[in-house]
Amino acid sequence: DGHLVAAIPGDGIGKEVLPAAQRVLDAVAVRHDFALSWCELPWSCSWYTEHGAMMPPDGIDRLRETDAIFLGAVGSPSVPDHISLWGLLIPIRRAFDQYVNIRPVRLLPGLASRLRECEAFDVAIVRENTEGEYSDVGGRFATPAGEVAVQESIFTRRGCERLLRYAFDLARQRGGALVSATKSNGIMHTMPFWDEVTAEVAASYPDVKWQRMHVDALTARFITHPEDLDVVVGSNLFGDILGNIAAAVSGSLGVAPSANLDPTGRNPSMFEPVHGSAPDIAGRGVANPIAQVWCGALMLDHLGREKAAADVLTAIETVTADPALRTRDLGGRATTKDVTSALVDALP
Ligand code: NAI
Repeated sequence: DGHLVAAIPGDGIGKEVLPAAQRVLDAVAVRHDFALSWCELPWSCSWYTEHGAMMPPDGIDRLRETDAIFLGAVGSPSVPDHISLWGLLIPIRRAFDQYVNIRPVRLLPGLASRLRECEAFDVAIVRENTEGEYSDVGGRFATPAGEVAVQESIFTRRGCERLLRYAFDLARQRGGALVSATKSNGIMHTMPFWDEVTAEVAASYPDVKWQRMHVDALTARFITHPEDLDVVVGSNLFGDILGNIAAAVSGSLGVAPSANLDPTGRNPSMFEPVHGSAPDIAGRGVANPIAQVWCGALMLDHLGREKAAADVLTAIETVTADPALRTRDLGGRATTKDVTSALVDALP
């Protein structure tokens, strides 16, 4: 009884926090009588430097055989970021139609919000993950008036609709309200379209309270009153930015997880922290493993191991409540290894 999981540590601290999380997940699996078989894949910027590509030509086919993909982070100062992103992460998200990116953010026990005094908040950010502003349509053109760069955004009705349905379903499940991020006062084609589809989808959820907010005002709301928010849904770009702000509000990028889901279950989903490869602290053993471990809990949940997932979250909450177990990003002096061992010990 078990699951085959692709493990892609990537670069920088990915190579430290991913093995740490594997340790915690293996320990919880044993307690719940199942096994995780890891398929270790060294695809990364160092792989790129050696092979001229972020992954081999049959990379997607190899991933297709797995039940889930567990990724650390990719990115290196010596390789342009658009290569690592468009060479690995974006192809995986698109090949497996992982159209939902979900980022849970809440204030963990013992952690203080970076930005303001606040008792508690618990927000799910639902980001469109396969189209929108992150498109390869456009280019640079020489014109008589000088060089011009054009970047197209692609919003399809099917793409918006299925994402919004996921978000409304989630809001219904959580018994909460939904806020849709828009900017239809400034962006005149895609955003009014997004708003229109939101209203259409909302009509089938009369029990869910919802509103739209301009993304600039919503950003401010995250900082001043995150406790007013529950489910926030946005396009690829807006969801990306809101996810990082929310992570900062919750204390640190070091504790922010995300999941790239194909909710139909036809393809493997991918679980990766919001943070990157953090070259500034890589190789020193001080990275916070909690974001990666929380990603592991999201993965277990997705694989139908809800009890094991809940145990991992309990362990995380026990550890964050202890000031002696904080890594540098949270103002402490604990190492990746200290926190990882404490997480294993804290499993119920
Ligand atoms: P970053 O998230 O790697 O680092 C930002 C800051 O947060 C740094 O000061 C870092 O030390 C700190 N930090 C991040 N994660 C931490 C953790 N677990 N524990 C303690 N401190 C942590 O973002 P940055 O510096 O903009 O990007 C570095 C590289 O990562 C770039 O090449 C970028 O393209 C890539 N990147 C990759 C992502 C991915 O693979 N999904 C996502 C974001 C960035």
